[in-house]
Amino acid sequence: MMRRRISPCAREHILVRGRRLARLQWWWHPSRLLWPSLAPRDSADVEGGVVWKRKDVSGSCLAMVETLEIPSPADFHVHLRQGPMSELVTPHVALGGIDLAYVMPNLTPPLTSAQQTVDYMAQLRAIAPHTRFLGTMYLSPSITLDEIRRASAAGIRGVKSYPRGVTTNSDGGIEDYEVYFPVFEAMQECGMVLNLHGEIPSDTDKGVCVLNAEPLFLAHLEKIHAHFPQLRIVLEHATTRAAVECVKRCGDTVACTITAHHLQLTVDDWAGKPLHFCKPVAKMPDDRAALREVIREGHPRFFLGSDSAPHPLAAKYPSPASRNDSTDELMLNCGCAAGVYTSPILLPLCATLLESFGALDQLAAFVSEHGRRFYNEPAEPGRVVRLRRATPQDAPVPAAYVHSSSTDKRDGDPSKLQVSPFFAGQHLGWVLA
Ligand code: NCD
Ligand code: ZN
Repeated sequence: MMRRRISPCAREHILVRGRRLARLQWWWHPSRLLWPSLAPRDSADVEGGVVWKRKDVSGSCLAMVETLEIPSPADFHVHLRQGPMSELVTPHVALGGIDLAYVMPNLTPPLTSAQQTVDYMAQLRAIAPHTRFLGTMYLSPSITLDEIRRASAAGIRGVKSYPRGVTTNSDGGIEDYEVYFPVFEAMQECGMVLNLHGEIPSDTDKGVCVLNAEPLFLAHLEKIHAHFPQLRIVLEHATTRAAVECVKRCGDTVACTITAHHLQLTVDDWAGKPLHFCKPVAKMPDDRAALREVIREGHPRFFLGSDSAPHPLAAKYPSPASRNDSTDELMLNCGCAAGVYTSPILLPLCATLLESFGALDQLAAFVSEHGRRFYNEPAEPGRVVRLRRATPQDAPVPAAYVHSSSTDKRDGDPSKLQVSPFFAGQHLGWVLA
């Protein structure tokens, strides 16, 4: 890490006004414009415990911006669950400033038919009537070509492929992509999108683990794209430089979603920290740099898919106190659920993170224009969501969101339904206006 000196004047400001206020301001360094960073392990200037990053001068006109207007933000990958969890989290899409949610099908049981998906979309609309929901089906052996045509006619936009066993509810997932080529052919004809969870299953004997599972998957993407050049494919939640480069090399029919949390986390941030553990896991600093670069450059085939994946706190921190399992069972099989929850803070979080790496000018492109163009989902004319800079009076991100039927239950009660969001207890740089 490089260490440089910040001018005494700037340091005095920091000490007098405190860290939080400083984060909202711009400071002049003798040679550069600086601002405090949210990314403590990035190459940075460190002084007095505050981490600063250099601002690209070309973006400096945004230094004084106090409000932002984003045309109808969309999240092209979100998990909205079932039952009480769905009641709790579905309204959070709008709370996070998002108008359109592209919803994942990994329910129990998974959504493998058009009718199931149509019914699920109706349930979500009943919970949050002002959010637009787009449905997906779960790729499985039971999906016939007729089912693809029925799904397309019913307005279902995509089919999601989960490799077997790599993530939440993926026991019925894929082992061999070629057996699905007839299905992909039918999807290509109907204009449906193939959404790929881009990992291969871990296999120690073959040298596959969570850190290389995504790069090793990319050969499958390239092969499917070569066979079906007109099939629209989205590589979901890319986490590696290899994935970014691979999608760039593919033609215009291949796009890529990026989550907010992968723009912030690296391996050190999830090892031993359940709230940051998700699949695919966050990777190396250089991989994170590639995700940031492709957004900063405004590449039109990269856009927001939050992969916001809520799990009960009791499943993130399994303990004898929070579950009904016996202590022995828990000690032997303890593992935390994979998923980072960002829905309720999504747009302010994206603004905060993109600003931290000098890409605030790409916010509208990343959270709205690029994804909407790929999915042919134009924003409603005139519809904008406004953000303003946070002030010291703004509340931090809540520690947890609690289902209304659980608010009077004690923490530790295994039936209390609560979910902790990313950035819990921290302040964001932007809030919805
Ligand atoms: C997702 C979930 O919990 O449904 N978990 C995750 O870590 N991302 C499943 C998925 O998208 O892999
Ligand atoms: Zn997901």
